[in-house]
Amino acid sequence: LFSGRVDFLLSAPQLKFLPEPTVPEIAFCGRSNVGKSSLLNALTGRRSIARTSVTPGRTQELNIFEVGDPTLFRLVDMPGYGFAKAPVKVVERWKSLVKTYLRGRQVLHRTLMLVDSRHGLKEVDREMMRMLDEAAVSYRIVLTKTDKIKASALEAVAAKVADEAAKHPAAFPELHLTSSEKGMGIEELRAAVLGDAGV
Ligand code: GTP
Ligand code: MG
Repeated sequence: LFSGRVDFLLSAPQLKFLPEPTVPEIAFCGRSNVGKSSLLNALTGRRSIARTSVTPGRTQELNIFEVGDPTLFRLVDMPGYGFAKAPVKVVERWKSLVKTYLRGRQVLHRTLMLVDSRHGLKEVDREMMRMLDEAAVSYRIVLTKTDKIKASALEAVAAKVADEAAKHPAAFPELHLTSSEKGMGIEELRAAVLGDAGV
C-alpha cells in the first residue's frame, strides 16, 4: 500500500490546523536528528517526501502525510525534541502541542518512538515515554541508524532499551532495529505500521 499514493498534506503549527480526524494516524517521535524524516522516506519508499536535514530541530510543526487513494491513513512527523540550545519558549510550545495531540487525537492508532542506536535512551526520551504512557498511546520503539554501530554494541544497547521498555505500560516489548540508509528492518516495520493502521 505504501507503493500507492503518498502525499504531503500540511504542516500544523497548532492543533486547530489539523485535518478532520477521518482516518487512522501513526505518529513518529524522537530526539531531533534521530532519523524520523529519513525513516518516513524509507517506509514510504520515497526519496524525499519528508525533508531530512543536518540541522537539528528543523521540523517544528506536525507534518502530515496521506497514504492511499482514497486516503487510508496518515503519517504524522512530530517535531524532534531534546536539541541543545532550544529556547525555553520553543520547548514549552513543543510540549503543549505534542501533549494535546497525544491526549486528544482519537484517530491516533500508534506512535513510533525513535531512538538512535548509538546513544540509547536519554532522559528526554524517558520523559517522552512517560507522556505516551500517560496519554495511553501505545508505541513501538525503533532503534535507528543501526548501520553506524557494531553488531555487538547494537545487541547491548537493544537489550538495555528493551529492559527499560518493559517498565513502560504503553511500550511494545519488542524493539524494531532499523537502518533507513541500508534498508535494514524497514520491510518488517512497514508491515507492522500497516497493521497498526488497520489496512
Ligand atoms: P529533525 O526533523 O531535525 O528532528 O531530524 P529527523 O529526526 O527528521 O532526522 P533526519 O531524518 O533529518 O536525519 C538526520 C541525519 O541523520 C541526516 O543527516 C540523515 O541522513 C541521517 N540518517 C538518518 N537515518 C540514517 C540511517 O539509518 N543511517 C545513517 N547512516 N544515517 C541516517
Ligand atoms: Mg525531520
